Amino acid sequence: MQAVVFDAYGTLLDVHSAMRRHAGRLPEWERLSAAWRAKQVEYSWVRSLVGPSAHRDFGVLTDAALDYVAAANGIADMALLADLRRAYRELSAYPEVPAMLTSLRAMGLPCAILSNGEPAMLAEGVRAAGLADALDAVLSVESVSVFKPDPRVYRLASEHFGAAPADIAFVSSNPWDAFGAREFGFRVFWCNRARLPDEYGLGGTVTEMADLAALPSLLA
Ligand code: LAC
Repeated sequence: MQAVVFDAYGTLLDVHSAMRRHAGRLPEWERLSAAWRAKQVEYSWVRSLVGPSAHRDFGVLTDAALDYVAAANGIADMALLADLRRAYRELSAYPEVPAMLTSLRAMGLPCAILSNGEPAMLAEGVRAAGLADALDAVLSVESVSVFKPDPRVYRLASEHFGAAPADIAFVSSNPWDAFGAREFGFRVFWCNRARLPDEYGLGGTVTEMADLAALPSLLA
């Protein structure tokens, strides 16, 4: 492998940490957080399919998804919504992530993010999670204005590293992202934290993990 490329939201950064931090003000925060995430990615797919005129950056879509979930659930506390928007810009990393990145780089493997996020939100998120020094590159879909799993996004990583897809390890917790990355030709590691059923026929073609701790030994 010439590089290890990670999805950001849900893989390195815990997307549910934003609502978890405000759980005391949000009964049913787990259901609401799952709905927020589902709407966010739905908007990314719909806008990619409609085409370039419909593109909006992932920060805009994240806020729109929260507004929708709030409206659908009768949440009108503007201060809470502002706190949630801010919290999403400062998500926590999953606990095993810093040591895992340190190990990979000690093995001589460059590490990067390839994310739907726009550059500013990614920079803020990486800094807040304490990962800025652990990454060699942070690549955003904004340079192609289309979202994953469009192959133009995955191509950004192989172009950045000047490496064939088969020489790049791609790591995502999102099964639809793992599927797109596999179709592109990356060697894929599916971090199946929630033990979801395999809905895209990934079995036997990607490496499945419960979290990221074992990644360095799998790549050794
Ligand atoms: C990302 C989303 C898909 O970081 O989680 O690209």
